[in-house]
Amino acid sequence: QIPVVAVDGPSGSGKGTICRLLAQKLGWHLLDSGALYRLTALAARHHGVGLDDTEALVVLAGHLDVQFVAAAGDDEVQIILEGEEVTLAIRTEEMGNDASVVAAQGPVREALLSRQRDFAQLPGLVADGRDMGTVVFPEATLKIYLDASAEERARRRYNQLISKGLGASLEVILDDIRARDDRDMNRAVAPLKPAPDAITLDTTKMTIDEVLLAVLDEARH
Ligand code: C5P
Repeated sequence: QIPVVAVDGPSGSGKGTICRLLAQKLGWHLLDSGALYRLTALAARHHGVGLDDTEALVVLAGHLDVQFVAAAGDDEVQIILEGEEVTLAIRTEEMGNDASVVAAQGPVREALLSRQRDFAQLPGLVADGRDMGTVVFPEATLKIYLDASAEERARRRYNQLISKGLGASLEVILDDIRARDDRDMNRAVAPLKPAPDAITLDTTKMTIDEVLLAVLDEARH
C-alpha cells in the first residue's frame, strides 16, 4: 500500500504551504485537490457553463485537460488547462468561491475522485484538501487537520494574494472566508470536518516552521 499523508482544513489554514514543504522534505508526490475544483470552475467559465449546471460540470470535471508541470528552481508547479497557463488565474478569491459552489455538488466530486486517487504513487503522497482523510484516502497512513481562527486565516490569505501581485482587501477576504467556511462545513456531501482518526493542530499562533516540524514529528511516529 502506498503511504499517504492526508492534510485537511479550512481555507487559509496553511495547508497549501505545509503540504508543499512536506512533500519536498519527504520527496513524495503532492496532490492539490483544491486546484482540481478551481480548474473545474475555470473550465466552466471558459465554456460558458453555469455553476449550477451539475450535468455539464460533471462532464468538464471528468475530462479536465490539465497538466501540472514542475518548473525547475521554482517552488510552485505550473498549471496548464487546455494548453493555457492558469497557475495564477485559478488563485483569485473569485475562483475560490466558484470552486466551493462547484464542490458542493456530489456528482462533480464523484467525477474527480479517481483522478485524485491516481496521484497516490510511490514513494508516497501528500494530499491537500477538505476530504482527503474522510473520503478520498480513508486508509491514509497519517491524517492531519489544520485549523486557525478566521481572522488569522484571512490575514494569511491577504499576504499570500498580495505577494502574488493579486489585489485584495482584508475585510472582503474575512467575509469570503466566513462564507466559504459556512458552505464547506454545512454542505450535504463531504462536509469539511476532521476525520475521526485525524490529529488536529490549531496553527493560529504557530509559524510555518513550527507546523511543519509538528507534522513531520507525527509522520515519523
Ligand atoms: O483549497 P482551495 O481554497 O484551493 O479550495 C477551493 C475550494 O474547493 C474549497 O473552498 C472547497 O469548497 C473546495 N474543495 C473541496 N474539497 C477538496 C478541496 C477543495 O471541496 N478536497
